[in-house]
Amino acid sequence: MQTAEQIERPAHVPLDRFLDYDIYAPFVEGKDFHASWKALQDADLPDIVWTPKNGGHWMVLRGRLVERVLSDYENFSNHTVLVPKDTAGEAYRLLPLSLDPPAHAPFRNLLSAGLAPQAVKGVEATIRALAISLIEGFRTQGTCNFTTDFAEQLPIKIFMQIVDLPSSDTAKLKHLADQFTRPDGSLTYPEVSQLFRAYINPIIAARRGRNARDMLSRMINGEVNGRPLTEEEASNLCIQVLVGGLDTVVNFLSFVMLFMAEHQEARVSLRERPEQLPVAIMELARRFPLVTVGRELRHDMTFEGVELKQGEMIMAPTILHGLDSNENPDPMSVDFARRDVKHSTFGSGSHTCPGAHLARTETRIVLEEWLNRIPEFEIAPGHNVTYTGGIVGSVNALPLVWDVATTRA
Ligand code: HEM
Repeated sequence: MQTAEQIERPAHVPLDRFLDYDIYAPFVEGKDFHASWKALQDADLPDIVWTPKNGGHWMVLRGRLVERVLSDYENFSNHTVLVPKDTAGEAYRLLPLSLDPPAHAPFRNLLSAGLAPQAVKGVEATIRALAISLIEGFRTQGTCNFTTDFAEQLPIKIFMQIVDLPSSDTAKLKHLADQFTRPDGSLTYPEVSQLFRAYINPIIAARRGRNARDMLSRMINGEVNGRPLTEEEASNLCIQVLVGGLDTVVNFLSFVMLFMAEHQEARVSLRERPEQLPVAIMELARRFPLVTVGRELRHDMTFEGVELKQGEMIMAPTILHGLDSNENPDPMSVDFARRDVKHSTFGSGSHTCPGAHLARTETRIVLEEWLNRIPEFEIAPGHNVTYTGGIVGSVNALPLVWDVATTRA
């Protein structure tokens, strides 16, 4: 009879690689989201470990390996990117994320028109106007909950405009996107997938063959390899874009503003020299990565001294790249003068995030407008900031306070 340990640990997994670790609950008592991940990296562990949690999977703990796993599609396939493989992985076989080169490129090209720098330029004025109106909505109250009053409003409203979906659908779609990235157990993955399809399929049908300029219409009326998209392809492409667009910037902005609230010198520096912002945002992206994805082993191989088997999952938390001291000196410090930052916050290789320019542009405009109008602010005294782990990590609530007399319209 097998012992419990033998059941949990496949025969080819050496004992020194075994680590009982849940990537969706990375928290260490007394540490924040990033410091908890960093504690794992700084523990005396091999560069690659295996955990029985979430269906059992490998996990790399060094920045150089995160980058390698995400980009080396000849060994590590995008066929499955999430664990547990049989539930989350299966439900998330979306487009273009689940395809490897060369099949990936024609689908990826369909995203370009809506997210390319030129397209983002076209919505900059709207982003700024919305940022100002949200800030002005609470500036004279001296307080807001940044996560709900701002972060969950701005990127989602902009995104709903880019894809031309009614803002009245926002709450429903955000809830579904959250169930993919941080499931609370209220819905199974197939149920989330089914609800997304029930929502998007009639919209796809209505926009087929129409010459509209919104991002969804352009995508679904595009061609792959000289043919139109099938129903299923169109639906998988749209759901991927909705999940990508509805949850990531929301949470990145919260991590950034939490940092700004706690660091007066950073507020002063960016306020006095806003021309630093494009470079500063690269540094903030390095310091506050939030996505955990992985790849499926394409074949048996020996990797970093361990035997990996075809079909196994290997996770590459993007958080462990920017925070690796082998890649960036003193990685937990934010240094706006840092050059040549190394990270995989937006991924690496052919699947590198197509929404990164939009995300950076939104963050820049938010910081410009916020620091101009509310130059000094802090976390509400007595509030204990908490986090939720997941495919996309999040800040649960961020109550901010400021002296209204120091603000300006
Ligand atoms: C701070 C904000 C964001 C972060 C940190 C982020 C992160 C990432 C990462 C790490 C990947 C690569 C996943 C992998 O290789 O398995 C990715 C891919 C993707 N992201 Fe983002 N993302 C952000 C914003 C956005 C936005 C705003 C959109 C859409 C409007 C978007 C849409 C996508 C799509 C469609 C993919 C799949 C690309 C492909 O498979 O070729 N993301 N993102």
